[in-house]
Amino acid sequence: MYDVCIIGGGVAGLMLARSLPDSYSIALLTKQHAYAGNTALAQGGIAASISLDDCAQSHAIDTMLASADHADAERVDILVREGAEIVAELLAKGLPHDADQNGHPALGMEGAHSTRRILHAGGDQTGSMLMQFLLEDSAENMTRLPGHQALELIISQGRCIGVLVSQPSGGRTIIQARHIVLATGGIGQLYSHTSNSSVATGDGLSLAYHAGAVLEDLEFVQFHPTVLTIGGKSCGLISEAVRGEGALLVDRNGKRIMDGIHPLMELAPRDVVARAIEWHWQQHGPVYLDARKVVEFAQNFPSIQTNCLRHGIDPRYERIPVRPGAHFHMGGVKTDSYGATTVAGLFAIGEVASTGVHGANRLASNSLLEGLVFGRRLAKHITELTHPEVPLDVPVKSCVSRLPDFEALDESELKKEMTHVAGILRHPEQLARFLKAHPLRSFRLRDYPDELIAEIHRSTASSLIATAALLRKESRGGHYRLDVPETKEQWTGKVIELSRQGTSL
Ligand code: SIN
Repeated sequence: MYDVCIIGGGVAGLMLARSLPDSYSIALLTKQHAYAGNTALAQGGIAASISLDDCAQSHAIDTMLASADHADAERVDILVREGAEIVAELLAKGLPHDADQNGHPALGMEGAHSTRRILHAGGDQTGSMLMQFLLEDSAENMTRLPGHQALELIISQGRCIGVLVSQPSGGRTIIQARHIVLATGGIGQLYSHTSNSSVATGDGLSLAYHAGAVLEDLEFVQFHPTVLTIGGKSCGLISEAVRGEGALLVDRNGKRIMDGIHPLMELAPRDVVARAIEWHWQQHGPVYLDARKVVEFAQNFPSIQTNCLRHGIDPRYERIPVRPGAHFHMGGVKTDSYGATTVAGLFAIGEVASTGVHGANRLASNSLLEGLVFGRRLAKHITELTHPEVPLDVPVKSCVSRLPDFEALDESELKKEMTHVAGILRHPEQLARFLKAHPLRSFRLRDYPDELIAEIHRSTASSLIATAALLRKESRGGHYRLDVPETKEQWTGKVIELSRQGTSL
């Protein structure tokens, strides 16, 4: 029995672990190895109002504006204020970062920010350097369990008391803890085009759904405008910071595609830029990022330069073919301002959570910040709770007994369908057709073989997103309906909640 079991080892999970008192025993489960998640891939950086010319209020205004009038102002205030404090504190503790000639943090510019406030490290290697920093400093009281796939959350008398996992050596076991935390990250791998790591398959959404938790804002999926695309395949992110340094989006003749679409052009909010690029691809053909005038590209963006070269493109002399890819899920498991879900004993932090700070569209580089802030907040909250009494014998048989009535999925077919029906441009008839083929169902997960549970997680997460997308009859931020392309006043402030018990608006 642990005090805290964290499922997922990205920025949010690690920040929680290092912020808990040493006296707490912690289990940290990851599906693969420590660096396999999205945090290590983050390029742009951490948005924080740490410069003298900036302030939390300005960061909050930019976050609210990008959110398409859907973020929760109080939570945004928490994010930007506590975020700036935590970043300053981590910098004092040696958080790696790039500096200017005066030794001050060099701050980058990204879309929809009104000023330079993106802290970065190693040029475009912020995520992996942050991971390294958090792991080096990780708590001695933490037991790391790589290669453990979460199969089902164990609920006893209305409380989450453990998680059934498959072990790397084969077989299953139950990890019990007084507090169970979902920090499982995102959903990009539900789509054919994505910037996300292979582990981002929406498991946390399915685990929470099957445990009876409420999920919200699931229709809001952010597509990053510029994913390197070769032969129709996503080959890695080209950071928004590249556009921040002056790169242009052009068609095959070199004409700027953002002309007449938004006054901020390449630095318009992500949903606007992603839609413009996708639309252009569908109507006229390829879109390119022209970064040839970006100063010292290779020095400033070493990992992008290396990745492009690996794919036969030198951004210093050639245009980069780009297409949008699924990047970030604004919605997720509904939480309060400390990460508590609607199920006792179950918490959610990071991308899998819906904290209300992103609304319908996340502001660039606010995701690492969210992980830091809500990881820290949850640690504080847990330490303030009295230790709950948790039964020691879990009444669950870990066995595969029933004949499955869930048909195995063709993963790439499901991704194609999701891209088509619940991607950047959505249509209700196609969403309804998808849901007829993949209705939202719940299963007694433990009765199925491990591989099938992984497919159930993928299918459940996909159906949850499609259901919410069908229900929201307007366009807003990352949710765009071809039948209702406008944002509707009557939908402002409305949140779609889904759970095993049904839907509420
Ligand atoms: C990027 O570098 O463009 C991604 C940063 C983010 O998603 O916030």
